[in-house]
Amino acid sequence: MRGGLADAGERLDREELRALQLERLRATLRHAYEDVELYRRKFDTAGVRPEDCRTLADLARFPFTTKADLRDTYPYGMFGVPMEDVRRIHASSGSTGRPTVVGYTQRDLDTWAQLVARCIRAAGGRPGDKVHISYGYGLFTGGLGAHYGAERAGCTVIPASSGMTARQVQLIQDFRPDIIMVTPTYMLTLLDEFERQGIDPRGTSLRVGIFGAEPWTEAMRREIEDRFDLHAVDIYGLSEVMGPGVAQECVETKDGLHVWEDHVYPEIVDPLGERPLAEPGERGELVLTTLTKEALPVVRYRTRDLTRLLPGTARPAFRRIEKITGRSDDMIILRGVNVFPSQIEEIVLALPAVAPHFQLQLTRRGRTDHLCVLVEARPGTSRAQREAAEAALARGVKDGIGVTVEARVVDPGTVERSAGKFRRIRDLRTAPETAPA
Ligand code: DLL
Repeated sequence: MRGGLADAGERLDREELRALQLERLRATLRHAYEDVELYRRKFDTAGVRPEDCRTLADLARFPFTTKADLRDTYPYGMFGVPMEDVRRIHASSGSTGRPTVVGYTQRDLDTWAQLVARCIRAAGGRPGDKVHISYGYGLFTGGLGAHYGAERAGCTVIPASSGMTARQVQLIQDFRPDIIMVTPTYMLTLLDEFERQGIDPRGTSLRVGIFGAEPWTEAMRREIEDRFDLHAVDIYGLSEVMGPGVAQECVETKDGLHVWEDHVYPEIVDPLGERPLAEPGERGELVLTTLTKEALPVVRYRTRDLTRLLPGTARPAFRRIEKITGRSDDMIILRGVNVFPSQIEEIVLALPAVAPHFQLQLTRRGRTDHLCVLVEARPGTSRAQREAAEAALARGVKDGIGVTVEARVVDPGTVERSAGKFRRIRDLRTAPETAPA
């Protein structure tokens, strides 16, 4: 199926790809060292020079880059080209502090469009398909990133952006898109709206959904595929490295996301001890190095995203990352037990009496943290069914994760709805009590 549609990078075999990676990696390290002061300082402190990278494994000798580096050099301090060569700026809002600002040269924008086009093809998109884009347009990379990729893939773009949910449903009904690109949680908000308007979501023209920008589980995939009768595939990316399109799941295998390794080099590190490299196939934190970025080269960027590296399948030359289970900074440590929202999602979605809308509320009771899973009842469920679901949910969490939580099944429509990237955890804890030793 790759035949005539694939771009040149996609046709490389693994050996050719590795040779290209090394050449590009060395050029990136030189560019970073020569053109970005922060990298020069970091490399000097670590006692490494770009020439020290003779094999791909040598990358492990170079220092990491973090979000804090971007914040500290806000807004343009890590740009590696003169401002007049920067064609576009994006920024991610971040929950605290300054946003992180990223820039693109014309060539960076071309590469980005090429990679998102690859993602759309891997998802089963073809020239002539209509693509409805409900990722937000603006400083967020989702909307514009998807937009130019879909155009590059030869598709017809419907730039809906996010919000105005009733109108989204009307556009889908009237314009008959083949593909939708949206966050999985906003897709659930759309699902509600279809049902509110009395329209069967299984009857739409949509054939494929390309979902990303937040973690989502296999259980969520099944829910969306069944309710909409479409193929749900995963797209990954982050603004610091590019935006959407760093990695993509193929529709024919749905087995994790192929990383477009001719432009981005992945590593996995131990998220806690910062051991340089985990064993092959071991779970840890994804670290990414850009191989062709001009405006903002990033060397060993700590994504905080947890996954593992696996060999390629549908695109054998490119390694896969397993579906991301969460971010290390989204992990709740509850009385010593690590809890990820994705684990709770699996349990919630297995319960027939509740809808897939849930939020986690973290409070402090005395000196201990308390987690409440707030989930909506499906319409028409009785009080007894809700109570049974609460008990089943609390038991599922206790048995599956090993921690006690409060489960509250509330009325339909009362849990906050996603309009894009959903804030799954609401941390309502006040400052910790100062207890005498
Ligand atoms: O969310 C870019 C994007 C837009 C990706 C649209 C996919 C679709 P940021 O706002 O910089 O960029 O957020 C990046 O979002 O580090 C992950 O924690 C999370 N994330 C993105 N895609 C996925 C995914 C965009 N498929 C951060 N699964 C990343 C899990 C994801 N988490």
